Amino acid sequence: MVKIAPSILSADFARLGAEIEALEKAGADMIHIDVMDGNFVPNLTFGPALVKALRPHTSLPLDVHLMVNNPDEMVPWFASSGADIITVHFEACRHLDKTLDSIRRCGIKAGVSLNPSTPENVLPYVLDKVDQILVMSVNPGFGGQSFIENQLEKIARIKDMIGEQKIEIEVDGGINPMTASECIAAGADILVAGTSVFAGGDYQKNISALR
Ligand code: DX5
Ligand code: ZN
Repeated sequence: MVKIAPSILSADFARLGAEIEALEKAGADMIHIDVMDGNFVPNLTFGPALVKALRPHTSLPLDVHLMVNNPDEMVPWFASSGADIITVHFEACRHLDKTLDSIRRCGIKAGVSLNPSTPENVLPYVLDKVDQILVMSVNPGFGGQSFIENQLEKIARIKDMIGEQKIEIEVDGGINPMTASECIAAGADILVAGTSVFAGGDYQKNISALR
C-alpha cells in the first residue's frame, strides 16, 4: 500500500507539536518537513531546531526535504536533530555523490530529489547511494500548486530504472485524490501532501482518500 507523508508546510505553525500528533493518529506513515533557505527556493521555513523540537511528539519517521543550496554543512545538523531521512536536490549539490554518502554516514536514509525540469537520466550513477527518489511534481517553494502531469512519465521511467533495487519513489506537490491515483499507477511508493491532507481538518478522512 502507498505511504502517505503529510507536509507540515500546510499545518498550523503555532501548534506544530499537536498537529503532528494528530497526523500520526490519523494514519500518516511519515512526517514530511520542507526546509527552504530563501535561496535555492524563494521561501524560508524551518531549521534543525524545529526538527529537534518536534522529535518527541511522534514515533513516525521524520522525512526532511532540504530545498537549500549546498546542503553539505546542514546534513549533520538535521541528522543529529532527529531526521530519519534526508533528501537533497540534485540541482543544489555540487558533489551529489559525496553529499549522499555523508547522509548515510550519519546512520540515516538518503534521498535525492529532481525538479520538474530535471531529467531522470541524472540518477543511474547514484542509485546505489539512495533509499528514495523524490520526484517534484511542482516547482519547489510553495504549497498549493497544481500537479505537473508530465511528471507521471518520469515516475514510470524511474520505476523501470530501479527494477528490483530497494529504492522508494516519493512524489511531492499537487497531490489530491485524483493525482494520487495517477501517481500510484505510475509506480509511486510515497505521496507527500500538504494542502489536501489539511483541507477541512479531517486528517483521517483526507489521508484515506489519498490511499
Ligand atoms: C513544495 C514542498 C511540498 C509542498 C506540497 O516545495 O516540497 O512538500 O508542501 O504541498 P501541496 O500538497 O500543497 O502541493
Ligand atoms: Zn517537500
